[in-house]
Amino acid sequence: MRIRTFEEYQQAYKKSVDDPINFWAEIAQEFEWKKPWIKVLDGSFEDASTKWFVGGKLNITENALDRHVREKPHYPAIIWEPNEPGDEAITLTYKVLHERVCRFANVLKKNGIQKGDRVCIYMPMIPELAIAVLACARVGAIHSVVFGGFSAKSIADRVNDSDCKMIITTDGAFRGAKKIPMKETVDDALIGCPSVQRVIVATRTRTPVSMIKGRDVWWEEEIKTVSADCPAEVMDSEDPLFILYTSGSTGKPKGVVHTTAGYMVYSAYTFQNVFQYEPGEVYFCTADVGWITGHSYIIYGPLVSGATSLMFEGVPTYPDAGRFWDIIERHKVNIFYTAPTAIRSLMGFGNEFWENKDLSSLKVLGSVGEPINEEAWNWYNTNIGKGNCTIVDTWWQTETGGIMISPLANITKTKPAFATLPLPGIQPELVDDKGEIIEGNGVNGNLVIKFPWPSVIRTTWGDHQRCIDTYFKAYPGKYFTSDGCMRDEDGYYRITGRVDDVINVSGHRIGTAEVEDALNSHTGVIESAVVGYPHDIKGQGIYAYIIIDHMPHDASMTRKEILATVTRIIGPIAKPDKIQFVSGLPKTRSGKIMRRILRKIAEGETGNLGDTSTLLDPAVVDEIIAGAKEL
Ligand code: WTA
Repeated sequence: MRIRTFEEYQQAYKKSVDDPINFWAEIAQEFEWKKPWIKVLDGSFEDASTKWFVGGKLNITENALDRHVREKPHYPAIIWEPNEPGDEAITLTYKVLHERVCRFANVLKKNGIQKGDRVCIYMPMIPELAIAVLACARVGAIHSVVFGGFSAKSIADRVNDSDCKMIITTDGAFRGAKKIPMKETVDDALIGCPSVQRVIVATRTRTPVSMIKGRDVWWEEEIKTVSADCPAEVMDSEDPLFILYTSGSTGKPKGVVHTTAGYMVYSAYTFQNVFQYEPGEVYFCTADVGWITGHSYIIYGPLVSGATSLMFEGVPTYPDAGRFWDIIERHKVNIFYTAPTAIRSLMGFGNEFWENKDLSSLKVLGSVGEPINEEAWNWYNTNIGKGNCTIVDTWWQTETGGIMISPLANITKTKPAFATLPLPGIQPELVDDKGEIIEGNGVNGNLVIKFPWPSVIRTTWGDHQRCIDTYFKAYPGKYFTSDGCMRDEDGYYRITGRVDDVINVSGHRIGTAEVEDALNSHTGVIESAVVGYPHDIKGQGIYAYIIIDHMPHDASMTRKEILATVTRIIGPIAKPDKIQFVSGLPKTRSGKIMRRILRKIAEGETGNLGDTSTLLDPAVVDEIIAGAKEL
């Protein structure tokens, strides 16, 4: 499974294309199965029916826990670094983590959770979050983790879409200097969630919260009443492991479904090969478990691989902008995985925050979530890596389950801002808008993947047709990523960003349609159009053009109110960075908003706006340009 040289990579890649069945079968054999599979790969991309390791039986937690408890019970599985720098970090060995997961799995059962039930998890980055996730997997419940920055309404939408029976949360959360209510937000969500029968509340901040009789119970009380022995549920390879909601071009966020075996094999295979983890090393991924990176590369990939995964509760700037570097120094972190937005933000804080820190333990630096610009890549390489680390710029998506295009640390020659080469098993292709394949090097196009890999999205919860339409229809027989991409003269891939109406703000995917819906629900808003624009730190910012029924006397007050509405409906992460009030939007004669023009204006372009001849009212463009300058 483990590739150690570039030649081995080339051989593995070739085999994965020539003989994918045996390639993946050999890798899958290294895991623990209750019953072997009958067929490695089945189904097709056309109707999104891909299946892997068909007929196999297993439980991912036996691979992530029991296996390692037998071999190395006292090896650290999770190191937890609390929000307060003075508070002591906590290490959970594989034995301790196994025991806690089993105990909480029994709590789930005691509270009515059975195989196939959906459980929503809305928690801060504390060990109980990982325990809750793994306990669901232990009993075969499908977890749906909702990022702690989402609003009550967003929780309710997600809970209702998949009829969750339970929500697991905490009283509150510590994030830097702030204390954030969690249970209270869940309580607001629960007003509209008829399927939820039980809420389990773990204590974190000791904030007084309402506890409803017959519905709400305390984590700490529940675990006292059950045993620490919980045999793992027998799962089929294709039983769903989790749902994770993510934004697309249109409509409400989709529940991306990943299944058990393929996801396990691919997340562990990519973790081991991309980061080249060695026994004894400490691996620190700064993502939140509320996103796919946290699922695949804080919990499942590392734990299935028997690694030590460091989990951090707080934020990179608390108590100061040296916090990440302080954690790396104190825990002697060897592999560090973060997002370009964090790098760009920390770059701006000055040398004193990293210069006096001992970062010599580092060997691999990872980047994920958005394109990393050359300046940030070089800063990361020079100042954090001291020129001695490999940077792995890992391209992938919620839907792909694991890393798809990336260097293998210390094996693939890197190039600033390039995700470099596809991992074994991944067959990328560039196509034009008509679906014609773009051959050769030194070219640009839409990125598609032409052959299934084990952790490809299986369905969108409750609406399989939507999965087909979104990912497999534009280019029949291929998975469409919605990303633009260039392949340079060396055959290296560089992802250039989304080609659909998704904005990538600080590495978080935000659908423009969702933000527009939220804006349009604000009183007085007649219509809105949202586009992304280049932002120095966030990568992209959100720019909203809003038609309002009458121009407000106090525009700044109205802007704040509109932001409050967006926060209430989606969450603070979707707040527009800029709001421009306009009297009209550039539309074609058929009434379609010409976003291309709005994007250009948001980017600061005033002259070359392309073809505007199809516009119903070209004068509106001049007005918008003039207004944009004043903003
Ligand atoms: C973008 C995050 C450039 C891309 C794992 C993709 C990237 C979207 C990179 C998925 C990268 C992710 N370089 N762009 N290394 N990694 N992206 O679902 O546009 O939250 O489609 O998954 O992030 O975001 P998601």
